[in-house]
Amino acid sequence: MCGIVGYIGKRDAQSILVEGLKKLEYRGYDSAGIAMYTEAGLQVKKAKGRLAVLESHLDGAPLVGTVGIGHTRWATHGKPSDENSHPHTDMTMKFSVVHNGIIENYTDLKEELIASGVTFVSETDTEVISHLVAREYDGDIVRAVQKAITHLRGAYALGVLTEFEPDRLVAVRNASPLIIGIGEGEHFIGSDIPAILEHTRNVFILNDGEMAVLTKDTVELMTIEGNFISREMIHVDWDAVTAEKAGFDHFMLKEIYEQPKAYRDTMRGRVDSDLTVSLPELKLSPAELANIRKVHIVACGTAYHAGLVGKTVIETSARIPVEVEVASEYRYRCPLITPETLVIVVSQSGETADTLAALREAKANGAHVLAITNVVGSSVAREADSVMLTMAGPEIAVASTKAYSSQLIAFFLLGMYLAQTLSTQETAWVRGIVAAMLALPEQVEQILDNTDALREYAESIAVHEHLFFIGRGVDYAVAQEGSLKLKEISYIHSEAYAAGELKHGTLALIEDGIPVIALATQNALLEKTVSNIKEVKARGGVIFGISDVNEATALGKAVDEVYAIPATHPLLTPALSVVPLQMISYYASLARGNDVDKPRNLAKSVTVE
Ligand code: G6P
Repeated sequence: MCGIVGYIGKRDAQSILVEGLKKLEYRGYDSAGIAMYTEAGLQVKKAKGRLAVLESHLDGAPLVGTVGIGHTRWATHGKPSDENSHPHTDMTMKFSVVHNGIIENYTDLKEELIASGVTFVSETDTEVISHLVAREYDGDIVRAVQKAITHLRGAYALGVLTEFEPDRLVAVRNASPLIIGIGEGEHFIGSDIPAILEHTRNVFILNDGEMAVLTKDTVELMTIEGNFISREMIHVDWDAVTAEKAGFDHFMLKEIYEQPKAYRDTMRGRVDSDLTVSLPELKLSPAELANIRKVHIVACGTAYHAGLVGKTVIETSARIPVEVEVASEYRYRCPLITPETLVIVVSQSGETADTLAALREAKANGAHVLAITNVVGSSVAREADSVMLTMAGPEIAVASTKAYSSQLIAFFLLGMYLAQTLSTQETAWVRGIVAAMLALPEQVEQILDNTDALREYAESIAVHEHLFFIGRGVDYAVAQEGSLKLKEISYIHSEAYAAGELKHGTLALIEDGIPVIALATQNALLEKTVSNIKEVKARGGVIFGISDVNEATALGKAVDEVYAIPATHPLLTPALSVVPLQMISYYASLARGNDVDKPRNLAKSVTVE
């Protein structure tokens, strides 16, 4: 959802900005731009399209200087175009702004500025900020920014430069993420850690309502009212290499192959040698846990799908009723939250605006909020009462893979911890599942060693425009994730249906030759699922079945092709069955010639509602 990077130091700013933007392109890629302080004053270069377009402009006429800001855009207000690209400037071109977020009252501000004689060149909400900063400037850029933002309503992370003070870069955060990178004789700003990881691992994370004033030698942190604050520096352990493609053709493929490691890392330190689970990060005592009457799982997109699996896991293991809801719906329907509700928010980035809003709603109603997130120091992580970190490492591809499956592992750990603490299941049952969890990484490796059939199948469906996924129980939850993955990156329309529900209407859409992916990993439900498969087959559906090795022969008799995953406990199958679905989506996207890592219209981190 728009990426911001900024640099002030002694090195060539252009290459640092462009490299930083490359790392942030997953946040948006409609257009890109940079502003730099050069010998000729403040200069802006920006262009519609991928970053490569901007790079080709810069190749011919590079900007030379050591101070600059850059932006990669995911359009909200105004179509992708050169004019609507950031950075935006004022009429004198002396002030330059990059922005991530939405200014909700920009129409009023724009009208007011136009009435006072300002001419706008873009359709964006952001442009009002550059004009406001210029209007408020009286010789101190910090004061001008502080005054300008008092007029703004909405979400914004900002980077601001002025030609009048080339030795200062001002950054502001309000409801959109922003971090400050600390170097030696140089400082950085970034929407996300990978943007600056190549240069420093030491960061300050700004909170909402805070700003930073950077020079090459100093960083001052203050509230937007100007009160100085001190903040602990965070040291980031990720190394730059893990944020690169490391020989894979695409980030998505690399991230799919990183799942065994992500599973191991997420379980590390949480599974004891006696096969019990420790979760010291869950800040609820056994007595407080025993008081929990219901669980709400709230998330968006893929994380919501992980929550669907989480529901079955928690209901089965802890016998507590669980509701799962998309965050954008949750907060607006006055959900019934009490202090006896445990609200679990799931967010890879920890910055999704709707999820964050749901978290705040839950806290305001007295619930304990547990965040399952992948990003330490993210907004969700900082505001939740308890934080379970998934240890998937940076995920760059827009379509989430290892973050989703690590969220499943987090739910398995949580479920087993609850069963253990609340004694809702036998110890042997818990230990059996924990032992099966430890085998999952190797089982994923087995699947990843056996992808030829998945590739061939994906190539065969790439010519289709519609496809169905069916499954029962957790297979249905995984089917929804498989369907989303396919839509996101291959643009093939697909629908996921509870296998038993198909005949209540959707069967009308099954016609000769339509591909259907049937998940049948729940051995106890195999016969029922096979009946549903036969209903589809009788209407001409061509079925690709997925089951575990033990049932592959039986399923093979009912479907056109079967793919076997290793056998595990029925509750854990999603952590395996999602992998072939990810690979099918990947190869279908490739076969269609799409940009796998950056699908059209989508952004990885959605920080607007
Ligand atoms: C965006 C991404 C999805 C992601 C969702 C939630 O829509 O494109 O892949 O699942 O946001 O993101 P989060 O970071 O909260 O998990």
